[in-house]
Amino acid sequence: MTYLDRRAQLDPANAARPAAGTVLCALNEINEPGGKTFRYRSGDDVFMGLVIRFKGDVIGYVDSCPHFGWPLAYDGDHVFSSDHLMCTGHGALFRPLDGKCVAGPCVDEAMTQWPVKVVDGEVVCA
Ligand code: FES
Repeated sequence: MTYLDRRAQLDPANAARPAAGTVLCALNEINEPGGKTFRYRSGDDVFMGLVIRFKGDVIGYVDSCPHFGWPLAYDGDHVFSSDHLMCTGHGALFRPLDGKCVAGPCVDEAMTQWPVKVVDGEVVCA
């Protein structure tokens, strides 16, 4: 699989995807609003994740833009443009709470959620 292979990123059989229960970081390591990116590799498989905090919610996405599959940002802290997530690739804007694209080259498509939860102040894969 290549780094930008969106289908492989979304494949539940992706060996690099961290298992449920994996601790990602402390909640206070993510700014509000803001995000943090996560990268995993297992053999040929690569998984890229993005966890954001926005208006009290903590939401995970597979960090793969529906347009070309590029990650939204190299640094999760710079993924917001005002009240939207913005892809640095071609500027698509996404609603933070549901990942739907509202402007740019992939309007009406959506980011794919990566289930996470907060447990005792830590962000954990759900
Ligand atoms: S890769 Fe995200 S807008 Fe083109």
